[in-house]
Amino acid sequence: MFSKSVALFGLAVAAQIGCSSAVTILNSDPLIYYHGRWDTSPGTWWAGSGFKLNVQNLTSLTLNLGNHTTTPLASVGVSVNYQPFYTVNVSAGANPIPLTDLTFPNVTGNNAVVRFNVEGWQNNRINLLSIDLNDGAELLTYTPSKLAFQFIGDSLSAGQFLPMGVDQAWGFLTGEYFRAEHRINAQPGATLTDMYSYGNVHGMSYQFFETEDTGYYNTLDHNYTTPWDFTRDVPPATHVVIHIGANDVSQNVTAAAFTQTYLDFLTRLRTIYLDQPIFVFTPWGWPSASGAIGYYYPGVYQNVVDARHAIGDQNVFLVNTTGWVTWDDVYAANQHPNPAGHMKIAALFETYLINWGLWPQLNWSTPAPMPPKL
Ligand SMILES: *[C@@H]1O[C@H](CO)[C@@H](O)[C@H](O)[C@H]1NC(C)=O
Ligand SMILES: *[C@@H]1O[C@H](CO)[C@@H](O)[C@H](O)[C@H]1NC(C)=O
Ligand SMILES: *[C@@H]1O[C@H](CO)[C@@H](O)[C@H](O)[C@H]1NC(C)=O
Ligand SMILES: *[C@@H]1O[C@H](CO)[C@@H](O)[C@H](O)[C@H]1NC(C)=O
Ligand SMILES: *[C@@H]1O[C@H](CO)[C@@H](O)[C@H](O)[C@H]1NC(C)=O
Ligand SMILES: *[C@@H]1O[C@H](CO)[C@@H](O)[C@H](O)[C@H]1NC(C)=O
Ligand SMILES: *[C@@H]1O[C@H](CO)[C@@H](O)[C@H](O)[C@H]1NC(C)=O
Ligand SMILES: *[C@@H]1O[C@H](CO)[C@@H](O)[C@H](O)[C@H]1NC(C)=O
Repeated sequence: MFSKSVALFGLAVAAQIGCSSAVTILNSDPLIYYHGRWDTSPGTWWAGSGFKLNVQNLTSLTLNLGNHTTTPLASVGVSVNYQPFYTVNVSAGANPIPLTDLTFPNVTGNNAVVRFNVEGWQNNRINLLSIDLNDGAELLTYTPSKLAFQFIGDSLSAGQFLPMGVDQAWGFLTGEYFRAEHRINAQPGATLTDMYSYGNVHGMSYQFFETEDTGYYNTLDHNYTTPWDFTRDVPPATHVVIHIGANDVSQNVTAAAFTQTYLDFLTRLRTIYLDQPIFVFTPWGWPSASGAIGYYYPGVYQNVVDARHAIGDQNVFLVNTTGWVTWDDVYAANQHPNPAGHMKIAALFETYLINWGLWPQLNWSTPAPMPPKL
């Protein structure tokens, strides 16, 4: 109902100022390609959730957002025609999206692929009501990539402390490199063990299977969590990547208990990802100014992978990240990777995957005109 009234309001305004009517796309339009975790409002949770559009004759685009959007704003990464993402801060109400960025080619008569995702691991809720496009614009089908990564982790994967949040994090960058869909479920402070940790009421072994990130608990208008319907992940993940454990060790979870939790988690993941390759990262550790690096749970990740192999699941792979991250790659204040550090990690993982046998898609599955070379 609310969406409809917004649409009518848009038409009325257009008529008043004497221009032809805009094209209004309701949030229920099947041509909107949603990715990540969306509740029924529909609204986003988890860094990286968003949507993609393929539009013909696009010259203007306005997001009409509802009151479940983070107050005062949520930062959204926007990319036009696969050019670099830039940040647009949005709020409940009408949000014209600047498309006149220098990276935006003149697309009159062509299609434009516009990608949106929330950047933050908190303050990351956009409640999409409708999208206003210019007169003459037409929504086309967005065909997702044949590759779809699912990343699972904590602050080290969520892009905490980065200026553009998850859009600068190693998982997101890896997805871009492979021209893949990327879904990222990473919660700063969260353990894998389902326990309270640094403000999270649940660990990832519980929350990963839910629509909401653990921020739901501090959210007045949505203080509950609901199971995620994995059939909404289209296409299903083709590659699953896990980097977790930093918070478990901080919470004094023993190596034995962590190992068991990890194995139980993989058993449950296998009910969703029946035979996809699963990549288990060892910790890259906590670098210090002296050059020393604090590693945790030595041998545990290898044991987890070995245990899967022992029961006949050969499609679980250890990614040995020992030495990947040094003092120069992190913020001194919190030892989390800085933007250059994330680019380094992404490059190392991309090399790992190529050696493993995965090649980037040659083209995005939804082509877009590229700007002329300067
Ligand atoms: C949010 O919007 C809905 C639908 O228009 C309205 O019923 C509700 O009162 C609004 N809530 C707040 C807190 O503004
Ligand atoms: C978005 O909002 C944040 C927080 O207020 C601010 O630091 C940032 O500069 C804003 N970015 C843009 C592009 O407006
Ligand atoms: C885009 O190209 C069309 C057709 O060549 C031209 O009429 C229009 O002025 C151009 N728009 C911009 C913003 O450059
Ligand atoms: C899109 O733009 C092209 C070139 O300007 C024009 O021929 C075509 O009619 C437009 N399509 C729509 C749906 O307006
Ligand atoms: C959410 O609900 C829990 C009880 O289930 C309560 O302890 C918590 O304070 C609530 N959060 C907010 C923001 O109201
Ligand atoms: C973990 O153990 C250390 C050393 O015994 C202790 O100082 C710390 O408070 C413990 N942390 C938690 C979260 O229990
Ligand atoms: C990981 O790499 C480091 C450094 O090359 C090496 O010392 C270590 O044995 C490797 N660990 C495993 C489990 O392969
Ligand atoms: C795929 O990309 C290559 C290199 O960029 C280009 O030459 C080719 O035309 C593209 N193929 C399709 C089907 O778009």
